Amino acid sequence: MHRKQFPFRSVAHMPPDCLCVLAHSTCRHVLASFTHQDKEFWMNEIIILGIVGSLRKGSYNHLALKAAQELVPEGAVLNLVELHDIPVYDQDTEMAMPAAVLEFKRRILEADAILFATPEYNYSVSGMLKNAIDWASRPYGASAWTGKPAAMMGASTGNLGSARAQYHLRQILVTLEMPTVNQPEIMICNAEQWFDPDGRLTDALTREQIQALLAALVRIASTRPPGENKAA
Ligand SMILES: Cc1cc2nc3c(=O)[nH]c(=O)nc-3n(C[C@H](O)[C@H](O)[C@H](O)COP(=O)(O)O)c2cc1C
Repeated sequence: MHRKQFPFRSVAHMPPDCLCVLAHSTCRHVLASFTHQDKEFWMNEIIILGIVGSLRKGSYNHLALKAAQELVPEGAVLNLVELHDIPVYDQDTEMAMPAAVLEFKRRILEADAILFATPEYNYSVSGMLKNAIDWASRPYGASAWTGKPAAMMGASTGNLGSARAQYHLRQILVTLEMPTVNQPEIMICNAEQWFDPDGRLTDALTREQIQALLAALVRIASTRPPGENKAA
């Protein structure tokens, strides 16, 4: 583990003598001035950003990411990002990027690792996912993706569970220079069968695989120096 360690997981885990020091108003002031990133850095929490390639309400891929949120290893958190506001890529505007794109890039940069959940559209990733990936790779030389560890999974209503889309996505991650988890491969086929009416992923084996995927992703992210995970 190369990341700096704060000796306690959180203020709640600190012994009473430390809390007395924190009770001092100067210390409280200093603590209050910490940004989210400072706290994440000192508390050594791995931030995973979950990106879903479907805008559909009730998306199985979105539901798979919700399941993954329940399965992250201790010391990591999985936050989801919305892509609804990302416009269609236009190279004429990339030097003055739309606010939604800047925010998307910021979310990628602050994360230690990325988890993609991709549907399969005509044997590939969805246009909106590719569009978002393209935006965040620009302008040339300022990609938000470079060096960011990634993992993927996918759900489709077909028999191959997004396998072809995931292999296209792997190809894209090569050019983006993202170290990618190889195994397990999670292809949720006939997706409608595996979620209950409340949208909960019910299949125990798939849940186990998602847990293993996240553990592998966190292993890669936590063995990299902090600067490398967050490089622009
Ligand atoms: C434009 C389009 C193309 C599709 N192509 C495929 C396909 O190639 N293979 C497949 O298994 N499912 C395909 N599907 C079905 C999707 O797997 C299904 O709609 C799935 O629910 C999409 O993921 P989501 O639930 O996260 O929105 C396609 C759906 C759409 C809308």
